[in-house]
Amino acid sequence: SIPVLSTSAFIRNSKSFIQLLLYFSLRMGTTHQHQLRNLTILLWHWPFSRPYSLEGDICSNEYGIPGCLLSDNTSLYPQADVVVFHHHELRTGRSALPLHLPRPASQRWLWLSLEPPVNTATDPVQRTVQLDHELRADADVPMPMGRRWKFLFHQTAAAIWVVSNYSPDHARSQVYQSLRKYIPIEVYGRWLKRPLTDQSLIPTIGRCNFYLAFENSVAIDYITEKLWRNAYQAGAVPVVLGPSRSNYEALVPSGSFIHVSDFSSTEQLAAFLQQLATDRGRYEAYFKWRQTHEIKTYTDWRERLCNICIIYHRLPAKKVYYDLDGWANR
Ligand SMILES: *[C@@H]1O[C@H](CO)[C@@H](O)[C@H](O)[C@H]1NC(C)=O
Ligand SMILES: *[C@@H]1O[C@H](CO)[C@@H](O)[C@H](O)[C@H]1NC(C)=O
Repeated sequence: SIPVLSTSAFIRNSKSFIQLLLYFSLRMGTTHQHQLRNLTILLWHWPFSRPYSLEGDICSNEYGIPGCLLSDNTSLYPQADVVVFHHHELRTGRSALPLHLPRPASQRWLWLSLEPPVNTATDPVQRTVQLDHELRADADVPMPMGRRWKFLFHQTAAAIWVVSNYSPDHARSQVYQSLRKYIPIEVYGRWLKRPLTDQSLIPTIGRCNFYLAFENSVAIDYITEKLWRNAYQAGAVPVVLGPSRSNYEALVPSGSFIHVSDFSSTEQLAAFLQQLATDRGRYEAYFKWRQTHEIKTYTDWRERLCNICIIYHRLPAKKVYYDLDGWANR
């Protein structure tokens, strides 16, 4: 059973290329300043049992973060400053919290989950563990998944959608089915058995003016690699469906995307896209933000774990979330 679920936390979106993840720490201890010594970040188990090499001083050598020892050696528990628990293994019982071990007073526990929030309940099992589906930027240390970051103009209103898990019940499927009556939409992904390889994804998207960055789940701060990687890196203007416009604007430049909810119908949205595709200047305005921002995406778990050292001193002391579920759903 899950103990008093607790604490300080932070959110971080990404996946191997960017997926959303969120860290909650469980049951915080007291705060110490650790500037003069190395911090030890212990990963209690590898997410989805897929380990990466931790040889050498990874955080410093790979990511320029000195003084940060990243380890998966559980023997280091007594001296770890932070212990990270990935939720999937806790939920499936492949791993467990070390509740039987004495916990150093200043040690923080971070809970981390990749799973999207309230995934429109296609899976009843997932619903019972809603607790796990937290992806909030108002966590103690919000770390949005990418940072803001070139492009081509094609003069066609063609849009592209990459979808693997298609469900007619998803809001995004309904928007797609309606939109396709008005503009051509190229569809790739496992749904239509037209998967794109990692190498072909970005160039394929870059061939279209518009990329449908439709999230499968509409939830606060749930903005995934569909936007960060697929659209922005490919240089297509993203048409987004997900949380509210203001939620997007809190994370990405306001002039960088088209929000489905800005239009009262998909017909109007289609008309707007058609018009934009004939107006190079206006289309290019969607890329102006690149003069002042660039996108940072995360390559693998190690980089994200090393980043814990950067935010470590900002983790609040003695903060306990007694009602994680309530926090997430307020
Ligand atoms: C921190 O770790 C680095 C790399 O392992 C090591 O060279 C250095 O001596 C350590 N510093 C302290 C204060 O322990
Ligand atoms: C784990 O850490 C312990 C304690 O420092 C050490 O004795 C052991 O060799 C380490 N195990 C591995 C696999 O590195």
